Amino acid sequence: MSNETATNRAAMPKTANPVLDRRTVENANRNLLKHLKPGLSVLDVGCGSGAITRGIAERVGAQGRVLGIDPSANLIDQARQHSGELPQLEFRQADIYSFESSEQFDVVTCARVLQWLAQPQEALVRLEKLVKPGGFLAILDYNHEKIEWTPEPPEAMKKFYGAFLKWRQEAGFDNAIADHLKDQFLQIGFEKITIEPQFEISRKSDPTFAEESQIWSEVARLRGPQLVQDGYISEEERTAAIETYSEWIATTGESMQLYLLAVEAKKNG
Ligand SMILES: C[S@@+](CC[C@H](N)C(=O)[O-])C[C@H]1O[C@@H](n2cnc3c(N)ncnc32)[C@H](O)[C@@H]1O
Repeated sequence: MSNETATNRAAMPKTANPVLDRRTVENANRNLLKHLKPGLSVLDVGCGSGAITRGIAERVGAQGRVLGIDPSANLIDQARQHSGELPQLEFRQADIYSFESSEQFDVVTCARVLQWLAQPQEALVRLEKLVKPGGFLAILDYNHEKIEWTPEPPEAMKKFYGAFLKWRQEAGFDNAIADHLKDQFLQIGFEKITIEPQFEISRKSDPTFAEESQIWSEVARLRGPQLVQDGYISEEERTAAIETYSEWIATTGESMQLYLLAVEAKKNG
């Protein structure tokens, strides 16, 4: 499929996105915590509504500098509105494929973004150039093929999820990108690469189980209309997925685990 298809499918819907908004650096990008010292500069690529970026800025403090970029004007507006008065924090509308900067950063982070790119390798080459010598590149991403639900979710949700992965794959996105990042880092010249599992597990006993496992109802609500429009599922199938999965969460659902890896490397100084 064309680059245009990939760009259209990667575009975030304009409505409020509760999934992005409830993330924090502590709960959704904790691989960064070991790097974040006062005074550092950080570039957050594909920062979305800036929920994680704000936490990064608080940790590097007023002597630091944090730039969040995202191609979505709407998300950058939201990020600016919620960013408070942190002088060290800036948001800019920009796309990693075309972002030009003479500035380099102590840490370049890119979380849950390469999964939405048809040319992740090209993006990685660009990301590497934005890291200062001696700085770190930190990628966090999914292998969507390794999701685990206990017990199995309803057929309607399995069908929606299968259609979602097919829709993504046919736009050129790598559903298993987390497990391919190490090789991609090697190809762009990084040598010592660290890989940390960052699985997100929600169990029924957790107070946040309903909210977290609901991510797939939210995907069906926010992204589902695009799948219907592109002919991957019917509108009835989309709504059945939302309804039966909500029922699963409220009754038999025990746990859901998202498979994420943090893949990081230091640039030679
Ligand atoms: C799933 S969200 C992740 C947001 C945030 N990093 C997080 O972990 O919550 C993916 C983000 O990637 C952005 N994105 C998509 N294509 C991009 C590109 N070519 N360059 C930079 N960001 C992109 C989207 O606009 C969206 O905000």
